[in-house]
Amino acid sequence: MKMESSNIKTWIQCLIYIILIVSSLHLLHTLLIINPKLTVDHQNATIKKVAPLPMRFRSDGTFKILQVADMHYGNGEMTRCRDVLDSEFNYCSDLNTTRFLQKMIQLENPDFIAFTGDNIFGSSATDAAESLFKAFDPVLKAGIPWAAVLGNHDQESTMTREELMSFISLMDYSISQTFPSDEDFPNSNKHNSVPKIDGFGNYNLKVWGAPGSNLANSSVLNLYFLDSGDRAVVDGVRTYGWIKESQLDWLRRVSQKLQEQKPDGDPSLAFFHIPIPEIRQGPIYNIIGQYREYVACSIVHSGVLKTLVSMKDVKAVFIGHDHTNDFCGDLGGIWFCYGGGFGYHGYGVAGWSRRARVILAELEKGEQSWTGVKIIKTWKRHDDEMLSKIDEQILWERRP
Ligand SMILES: *[C@@H]1O[C@H](CO)[C@@H](O)[C@H](O)[C@H]1NC(C)=O
Ligand SMILES: *[C@@H]1O[C@H](CO)[C@@H](O)[C@H](O)[C@H]1NC(C)=O
Ligand SMILES: *[C@@H]1O[C@H](CO)[C@@H](O)[C@H](O)[C@H]1NC(C)=O
Repeated sequence: MKMESSNIKTWIQCLIYIILIVSSLHLLHTLLIINPKLTVDHQNATIKKVAPLPMRFRSDGTFKILQVADMHYGNGEMTRCRDVLDSEFNYCSDLNTTRFLQKMIQLENPDFIAFTGDNIFGSSATDAAESLFKAFDPVLKAGIPWAAVLGNHDQESTMTREELMSFISLMDYSISQTFPSDEDFPNSNKHNSVPKIDGFGNYNLKVWGAPGSNLANSSVLNLYFLDSGDRAVVDGVRTYGWIKESQLDWLRRVSQKLQEQKPDGDPSLAFFHIPIPEIRQGPIYNIIGQYREYVACSIVHSGVLKTLVSMKDVKAVFIGHDHTNDFCGDLGGIWFCYGGGFGYHGYGVAGWSRRARVILAELEKGEQSWTGVKIIKTWKRHDDEMLSKIDEQILWERRP
C-alpha cells in the first residue's frame, strides 16, 4: 500500500507537469503566433489605413503641400551619408533623412506630401519593400495623405517600376495610383478599360473647396503626377527617360475635361522627377534659388512644355533629379521648380544643406464663403537647426 501511494503521487506529479507544459506551450502559441499579429512576408498583415477623400482645403482657406525630392533612402541606419563634411560623416545615415522629414512635418503641418522620385536609392536598398517602409515611415506615422512618383533609381533594387507603384499605392494614407482613374480617361470603355499609357504612376488628384463653402463639393485645384521614366538608349546613346506622347495625350484630355467643367480656370500643378530638355535649353526667366548644376535630362525632346502651355491650367511644375539645383524659373509662362536634394544618401555638396520645398495655395474670400484658389506661393527650408526658410515667392495669382 505504501509503495502504491507513492507511485500515485509520482503519477499525479507527472500529470501536473504535463498539463503545465502543454498549457504553457498553448499560451506561448496563442501569444506569439496566433494573436495578435499575422505575419506575412515578415510584415504584419494589416488593412490599409485610408486617407479621407476627397482632399480638400481647410476651413481657413489654405492647402499646403510639402514636396520631398530625392530621399535616396537605402537600408536605414547602416546606410552612410554622401557629401557631408568629414566632421559630420561618422554620425550621419539615412536616419538623418528620416529626422529631416519628421521635423518638416512637425513645423509645416502639410495637408499633403508629394514625393517626386528617387524615393529609394535602389542599388543601396537590399529589399525595396523594407526601404519604402523606412523611407515613408514619418508620413505613415503622421497619417498625412501622400503621393509619390518614381525617379530613375527606385527600381534598381528588388521591385520593378510597376511593382513599386502598386506597393506604394497600397501603403497607409497613400493616394498614389499606378494608372489613371477611369473617370480621367474620357475615351475608355468596357473593351478598353485598362488605359494604354506609358509608364507607371500617371494620375491626377483633385483638391476640393473648403468645407461648408459654395465649392465644398467641387474641385478647385488639380495635381498631375507623371512618370518621367528611368533610363533609355536612343540611337545607341545612353540617356534618361522622357514623358511620352501617350502621357501627353492623357494630360490634354484630362485638362480639357477639367476646363469644360470649370470654365473660370482653376489652376493645376504638375509633379514629376526628371527635368525636361526645355529647361536646359532655356531661356529661363526670373530665377529664384540656385542653378548649380547642368540639367540632367533626356536627349529626347517630346514637347512637354508645348503641351503644358497649350493646356493653360498648369501654373507650376515641381521636379527633382538634380539635387543641387533648387531654383524656380519661368519657362514659357509656367514656373518650373526644383525641390532641391532632400536625402543624405543622395549626392550633394558638403556644407550645403539638404532642403525641401513647401507649396501653399490660398482661396479667395467671397461674399459669404471661400471660393476658388486666389494665390499659390512657395518657399524652401534648409535642414539646419532652425529649418531656415528661404526664397519665398508667388507662383500664381488670379487676375481680378
Ligand atoms: C508588427 O507588430 C508588432 C506589434 O504591434 C510591432 O512591434 C512590429 O514593429 C510590427 N512589425 C512591422 C514590420 O510592422
Ligand atoms: C545627423 O543626425 C545626428 C543625430 O541627430 C546629428 O548629430 C548630426 O549632426 C546629423 N548630421 C547631419 C549632417 O545633419
Ligand atoms: C455638398 O454635399 C453635401 C452632402 O451631400 C450637402 O449637404 C451640401 O449641401 C453640399 N454643398 C454644396 C455647396 O453643394
